[in-house]
Amino acid sequence: MRNGILFVEFLTLLHTFAANILEGIQMKYPPEPFKIKTVEHIARTTDAERQQYIKNAGYNVFSIPAEKIYIDLLTDSGTSAMSDKQWAGMMNGDESYAGSRNYFHFEATIKKIFGFKHIIPTHQGRVAENLLFSTIIKPGYVIPNNNHFDTTRANIEYNGGIAKDLVNDAAKDTNLILPFKGNIDIQKLESLIQTVGPENVPIGMITITNNSGGGQPVSMENIRATSKMLHKYDIPFFIDACRFAENAWFIKQREGGYAEKPILEIAQEMFSYADGCTMSAKKDGLVNMGGFMALNDDELAQKVTNRLILIEGFPTYGGLSGRDLEAISIGLNEVLDETYLAYRVGQVEQLGEKLAAAGVPFLKPTGGHAVYLDAKNFLPHIPQSEFPGIALTVELYTHAGIRAVEIGSLMFAQKDIKTGETIFPDLELVRLAIPRRVYTNSQMDFVAENIIEIFERRNDIKGFEIVKEAPVLRHFTAELKPLA
Ligand code: F0G
Repeated sequence: MRNGILFVEFLTLLHTFAANILEGIQMKYPPEPFKIKTVEHIARTTDAERQQYIKNAGYNVFSIPAEKIYIDLLTDSGTSAMSDKQWAGMMNGDESYAGSRNYFHFEATIKKIFGFKHIIPTHQGRVAENLLFSTIIKPGYVIPNNNHFDTTRANIEYNGGIAKDLVNDAAKDTNLILPFKGNIDIQKLESLIQTVGPENVPIGMITITNNSGGGQPVSMENIRATSKMLHKYDIPFFIDACRFAENAWFIKQREGGYAEKPILEIAQEMFSYADGCTMSAKKDGLVNMGGFMALNDDELAQKVTNRLILIEGFPTYGGLSGRDLEAISIGLNEVLDETYLAYRVGQVEQLGEKLAAAGVPFLKPTGGHAVYLDAKNFLPHIPQSEFPGIALTVELYTHAGIRAVEIGSLMFAQKDIKTGETIFPDLELVRLAIPRRVYTNSQMDFVAENIIEIFERRNDIKGFEIVKEAPVLRHFTAELKPLA
């Protein structure tokens, strides 16, 4: 009998051992679920060349020609690699002015995933925002969101509205690890509605994932609660859907009851609580250009369509070619693939894990599309007035040819109108946005290694001052110089 038990124990051990080996083979982070059919040459520049290019650019990485960059992590928007099927789809472009067959594919795909009645194509996300807000906003109207993306905020403010960020307080702590740091604060939402009056809130929004808050996901529970709260006051609910598939993947991984559900069903459920959405297809549409707005309200759809014809084009192309519409409809289906999403979100997480092991400070946990370095803690000796985020972007470029974007004082510091004093943002971040299906894991290792090298000699890095700046959106064109 004892022998029998031993044998069972032995078998169990053997089984565990085999499972461990298998797990080893499966790897913690899945490898690329594609092979490369076409390659694009990228330049390796010398240290001396990069010093010259960054100086010529006024120490602003937006002004460096892209051909002088080795790994470009400026944005994940419009930078995806399309699949062979998407390229084949482009050859099926029907460039008829009205009623192109590609529009019907586009419409059917969006109806399947998003479930809305009216589908309005636009050439990118901000045009959908422009159409929506120029139609629904009157001066003084308030639009709540977890965090508005810059273009969303700008389109609201340009039309006389007020954009309110109501993300939960935990999101501001860069070290706090929580599953859904993109969630909106439901109490804050209700108190805002009561303070300004529901008649002054034409819609409420949620951005999935929350780009301005570190690419953090929003839970299904929070989407449901937001919908319920807005609908209690008869306020329509819109979703900024740019990274909806990445958000659905996080729900599947992190929220009880979703582990066995296909991504398509999770996406369908997210949008079932909403009355409409705006979407930049340049993210989870896996294309280089495109977007749309989708909604159920017939009257609003009619008004938006009339405006669309004025500024973008006929309702079956909205500023896009037939071939673009086809690539989007194929991309929206491809992005639902779980093997892809596991690799995609895993690639971002893996970069974070390597940086964390070396003690590099970044916003935790990693988001769906980017790692946000915490420049304040990376370079604590550089005060906010000397742009630590810019110092880090300059160093990433000069050290290794990597381009990232500062999301800190150059982008967001404001002058107090009364005192003239500078108000600095809470966080100084440097976003490493990872284009979809573009860089291999070994290129990501290169990024991690070089950031760690910079971190090891961080005390030598100096701050910057502005030489020239535009009155608005200065970060795009500002020129700076290093402080002695
Ligand atoms: N909403 C979100 C959440 C975004 O991230 C973006 C673009 C837009 C709307 C606007 O879409 O560019 O197609 O007009 N984000 C890019 C970025 C630019 O780098 O994060 P668009």
